[in-house]
Amino acid sequence: MTYVLTLQGVGCSFSKESGPVLSGVSLDVRAGEFVSVVGASGSGKSTLFKLIAGLLEPDCGEIRLRGAKAGGRLGKVSYMPQKDLLLPWRTVLANCLLPLEIARSRTEPAKREITARLKDFGLAGLEHAYPDELSGGMRQRVAFLRTIAGGQELLLLDEPFGALDAMTKRDMQRWLLGLWSELGKTVLFITHDLEEALLLSDRIYMMSGTGQGGSGVREMIVPLPRPRRYEMVYEAGFAGLRQELERRLHA
Ligand SMILES: Nc1ncnc2c1ncn2[C@@H]1O[C@H](COP(=O)(O)OP(=O)(O)OP(=O)(O)O)[C@@H](O)[C@H]1O
Ligand SMILES: [Mg+2]
Repeated sequence: MTYVLTLQGVGCSFSKESGPVLSGVSLDVRAGEFVSVVGASGSGKSTLFKLIAGLLEPDCGEIRLRGAKAGGRLGKVSYMPQKDLLLPWRTVLANCLLPLEIARSRTEPAKREITARLKDFGLAGLEHAYPDELSGGMRQRVAFLRTIAGGQELLLLDEPFGALDAMTKRDMQRWLLGLWSELGKTVLFITHDLEEALLLSDRIYMMSGTGQGGSGVREMIVPLPRPRRYEMVYEAGFAGLRQELERRLHA
């Protein structure tokens, strides 16, 4: 079994007074898996991602990427933060090239790849558009394309569809399912939408707390077959799974 990511007993606090946000978090993600993280607002989901991405260091515990104790994690995973953070003065293409420029990688091959991918992302012909000219869903897809253009195996996606209307979200889920199976990436995905977590994931980690005392995690395996289709949400077993997830989340 190849583990792309393992966390062992990770704890994190921002100040002594407020106490830990995360404590004793252990989890793992295997190559090619799609794993979701759900939990109440403030339970520390985004903090968890910042730790994995190397933007924060844990107070205790261990974070390993591909088995290696990762000191310099920064830039080793592709991270899509909760806000799309597109730079308004850069075009779609220039926004997508940003992580490569920061990493001082060559941008020419990526430029070709990004341009070729725009169509798959529903952004054909928009490489020279500015973020202001795009809809919310398009901006999300640009942020997504930028994350993938970073070229890392592990994608951390923090509520990528959180701000979308139900119809657009459904299209994006469909599209993500197809893309994930085509790209063969490993995905860790934060969402508030339990249906979405079930539909997309192999496993779901539930954050236990609201921050006080520090959240830990519990795991639920999603027993739905692959490939997944959006219509599965209407099938008989799905409502039961949802109920089970909700029950465990509030237990
Ligand atoms: N930079 C920071 N300094 C101090 N406290 C912080 C900081 N970032 C987050 N926190 C606190 O840590 C806790 C967890 O925040 P986090 O953003 O990880 O929650 P979340 O689960 O992602 O919530 P949401 O679902 O609303 O996005 C909150 O109580 C928050 O106030
Ligand atoms: Mg968050």
